[in-house]
Amino acid sequence: MNKAGLEDVVAATSTICDVNGTQGRLIYQGYDIHDLAVNSTFEEVVYLLWFGRMPNKQEFEAINRELRVNRKLPAEVIKMMREFPKQTPGMDVLRTTVSMLSMFDPDTLNNDPEANIRKATRLTAQFPTIVAYWDRIRNNKEVLAPKEDCNLAANFLYMLNGTVPDDVSAKSLDIALILHADHELNASTFAARVAAATLTDMHAAITAAIGTLAGPLHGGANQEVIKMLLKIGDVEKVEPYIKKMFEEHKKVSGFGHRVYKTEDPRATHLRRMSEELGKREGDLKLFQMSRKVEELVMADKGLYANVDFYSASVYYLLGIPIDLFTPIFAMSRVAGWTAHVLEQYANNRLIRPRAEYTGPSNLQYVGIEKR
Ligand code: ACO
Repeated sequence: MNKAGLEDVVAATSTICDVNGTQGRLIYQGYDIHDLAVNSTFEEVVYLLWFGRMPNKQEFEAINRELRVNRKLPAEVIKMMREFPKQTPGMDVLRTTVSMLSMFDPDTLNNDPEANIRKATRLTAQFPTIVAYWDRIRNNKEVLAPKEDCNLAANFLYMLNGTVPDDVSAKSLDIALILHADHELNASTFAARVAAATLTDMHAAITAAIGTLAGPLHGGANQEVIKMLLKIGDVEKVEPYIKKMFEEHKKVSGFGHRVYKTEDPRATHLRRMSEELGKREGDLKLFQMSRKVEELVMADKGLYANVDFYSASVYYLLGIPIDLFTPIFAMSRVAGWTAHVLEQYANNRLIRPRAEYTGPSNLQYVGIEKR
């Protein structure tokens, strides 16, 4: 076993999510992601992740209502967001704002299971508002009150753009949110569980997770993918560009995965959506470039596209600003993070591994004037 990066180390038992890397299967609480992507909604998946089963009609109506009425941000938080430097990346804004929300949450000091469900609900409802408000604030636009008659995906696009989205855009984002909602002990979820295991509060654990997701080896990769595609600019230029990356031993963002050694099942849906949205726009260039990159990386490295590869062109074709791609990932993954925090609290033991010491020993202290 390669200890570096805790590869293949099983660090928790969990009922929330199963990733089978050899079969390319992703399961949320017993349900295959392909089934959920086609038939479910993000709100229903949130319930499934938190409560371990599908909601009945009344339960679904209740969670739907709670996820709609809790979308607003405290005025003090919006005021503070207006003070942030306009060039601040979306993930930094999200991290700081979520941390700030703990100061205004009525349940901050209450770690009971019911209070934690309320906090998880508020956070999941508030994430899209933070992301959309930040984009409007930095562009000197008025923020828009959330629309309670839209689901989470449609309301986000409304608050971002100022118009109610068409059905295809809203449905595409809803599916993307379902696909990103959980992924077992990925780096950001592990960070959330490590924090929660100290019995710190939900907001602290989610803040740790946001910081972890931002890195380019994790959720930050979707932004790197679109920057690369836009830089290449044309299907004919893909091959020389990627070959040069290989020669320079650079990694191609959106490829490879610690667990999947076959097609990432999320990429299957995002690839289809990328093509459909491209056709709708009457411009398949991004999709064709992506296919070419995929072909070259497979031929040379034997690596498959991961979730971040095609989500990049999907979000771009939905008109979302590039630095909001990773915050959108977070808007979905907060459902999984909070589910894992709830599970950790329910059966907690401090997570405290050991390090193998490889430093020197038996050194004698020498005063600074003699060094
Ligand atoms: N492009 C080119 N080569 C790659 C890539 C890539 N994207 N990914 C892995 N490799 C190569 C490595 O260079 C290494 O080769 P070597 O053994 O000759 O040195 C080998 O494959 C193993 O790679 P590691 O980085 O050791 O694999 P690890 O399991 O640690 O990393 C990771 C997985 C971080 C996802 C990696 O594949 C990567 O950096 N991909 C690009 C970034 C990315 O897309 N991240 C998003 C992942 S999905 C998510 O977090 C939501």
